[in-house]
Formats: sequence, structure tokens, C-alpha cells
Amino acid sequence: MKPLVVANWKTNPATMKEAKALFNSVKNTGAVICPPDIYLSALGADGAQDVSEASAPILKKLGIKYVIVGHSERRRRFEETDEIVEKKLKIALKSGLRPILCIDKFSQLPQKLNKKVIVAFEPLFAIGTNKPCPITAAKEMRDSIKHHFVLYGGSVNSKNAKNYICQAGFQGVLVGKASLDAKEFIDIVKNIC
Ligand code: PGA
Repeated sequence: MKPLVVANWKTNPATMKEAKALFNSVKNTGAVICPPDIYLSALGADGAQDVSEASAPILKKLGIKYVIVGHSERRRRFEETDEIVEKKLKIALKSGLRPILCIDKFSQLPQKLNKKVIVAFEPLFAIGTNKPCPITAAKEMRDSIKHHFVLYGGSVNSKNAKNYICQAGFQGVLVGKASLDAKEFIDIVKNIC
């Protein structure tokens, strides 16, 4: 199966014009693009960065297929606990959205996890730091999450992405900063597929 590449644009870019230009450059890569909510309908993207009881049916109607749940920044800034994250997983699944559950450590995995949930291992020290997780440590985490599609996230770029797939056995990558540079992002997709 082709590796899954997910772009998390967070609160970028600053204008709709830039968002449209970036989206148009990367939309044919087959990657899931998660722009800020405010750009979702104008772009026709298929990923969103968060979900709630109120937004889930709207996202579904907009054509969204994937939602990121429990990103480290939401856990930190909005004090999202594991309980809240678990609730969001249920809300997403109920609406027919495929959740991408971000975890920093194994203990953040719910005891019973629906098979449809995609897990993204994103060690805190690697997010936005240019310090990607060493392959051996990432592989250890990958191997301990059984029966799930697992992505790696944290300082992914066009040079290191392939190692997480080919050496560590992840099924894809979740890309933050490097997804805002069209050329770099296209190279990530090209280099791993
Ligand atoms: P990064 O972000 O690729 O910029 O490290 C990853 C993320 O926050 O999902």
C-alpha cells in the first residue's frame, strides 16, 4: 500500500491567496492536506486539524475524510486531556470521519482503539525542532502499536521521511513545517512513494 502523507498546516499560511497557491501546488500529490478551518471550504481539502461535536457533521458535509485528533499543541494550549481526546475520537468515528490520533507516548493510547483510527507517533522533542526522532526509538514505538496504521511525525523532511517508512516500518508521515514549502513537500511525497 502507498504510504500516507498528511500535511498539518496549523495556522498557516497568513492569507487565502497564499493558501490557494500552496494548495494548488500540492493537491495532485495524493497527500491529505489539513489547512486551518477557515480555508477548508474554499480549498476543498480532505483533512481537518480538529473535530468537535458541533463541527463533525459540518466537516463531513464539506467532504472532509480525515481529522487530526489530540495534536500536542491542542493538548498543551487547550488543555485537552486523554479523556477529551478519546471523546473526540468517538465523535469523529460516529460522523464517518477517519481520526488521526496524535500521541507522544504509548500511555496516551486508549485501551480499546477502533481499527479505523490512524495513530501518529509524534514525540514532543521532535515537533518543530529540526530534531527528528532517532530511527531505532521510532521503530520501537512503531513495533509496540499493533494492528494499526501508524504515521511518524516530528521534523519530517524530504531527506529523512523515507527512513521512517523503509527502516522503521511506519505507514506514512505527518508533516508540519515542511508542508508549507511546496517543493519540499512534493519531494517528501516523491521520495517515499
Ligand atoms: P513539524 O510538525 O513537522 O514541523 O515538526 C509536526 C506536527 O506538529 O504535526
